[in-house]
Amino acid sequence: MTVFVSGELPGDGTSVLRESFDVVVDGGGVASDAFAAVAGEVRGIVALLTDRVDAALLARCPALRVVANVAVGIDNVDLDACRARGIVVTNTPDVLTEATADFAFGLLLAAARRIAEGDRLVRAEGRFPAWTPTFMLGTSVHGMTLGIIGMGRIGKAMARRARGFGMRVIYTQRRREPEALERALGAAWAATIDDLLPLVDAVTLHCPLTAETRGLLSRERLSKLRRGAVLVNTARGPIVDEAALADRLEEGAIAAAGLDVFEAEPRVHPKLLALPNVVLAPHIASADRKTREAMANMAAANVHRVLSGHAPLTPVS
Ligand code: DGY
Repeated sequence: MTVFVSGELPGDGTSVLRESFDVVVDGGGVASDAFAAVAGEVRGIVALLTDRVDAALLARCPALRVVANVAVGIDNVDLDACRARGIVVTNTPDVLTEATADFAFGLLLAAARRIAEGDRLVRAEGRFPAWTPTFMLGTSVHGMTLGIIGMGRIGKAMARRARGFGMRVIYTQRRREPEALERALGAAWAATIDDLLPLVDAVTLHCPLTAETRGLLSRERLSKLRRGAVLVNTARGPIVDEAALADRLEEGAIAAAGLDVFEAEPRVHPKLLALPNVVLAPHIASADRKTREAMANMAAANVHRVLSGHAPLTPVS
């Protein structure tokens, strides 16, 4: 049986697959010639979030039984089209929760306290004049009110971190969490994002990209944030109107942003590139070695299990 692996993976997932299957690896992903050569017979795909797995692709793969995404987000996969063909789709929940929350919190600190901007300044000859009481003042992080959009695993991990920083947390998602959990996390529920935005000093996104969340932080919604608020996005770029965000950052209405994801990745809005008050990262929130190995191993294990007649570990329902 042929399995396609969409690029080099950390850990030993690929070699484990090689013990049981004919494995083809190509960094060009499902757009590569290598994939085209095996599309007719491929049974499993270990896909990356940069692979578009849509109805057109599936039509080329009549033998395909499983798509294992090396990511928790599955917005690159057309789930309906997979369901219609009986193809199992899996993702990598849990293993990246803490790494992603660590990074999101790091972006919050770096953006609010101007850490990356300060680093650039110190490196630029002559631009660090001397300590003065008014130099490079940022936004207080300890004690701020943090808005969490999407209280799933990563949202909850952010709330736990926020407690350690003496923050008040307000979260929004359709379903309210049980009161006991809210108490444990020190988090209050807002029924809608429009209720949440005016109440918080910083907002962090932890919802999936879906038809419903695309453009969720629109120009109009961004203007509902308090003046001087901070925005962090480690979820997906298209959840935020990037041009509107750049305008608000330029005006200083939003004090700073920390972004790990972008609307048209890997391209970044040119205005964001030019702004000093935005910390930019190349989609690496889950990129600590242990986490990435766990993600890749989980995806490989899912392919292995499905093609061996077992239930996948982490199916996407
Ligand atoms: C995910 O898992 O969806 C991240 O964006 C990549 O780690």
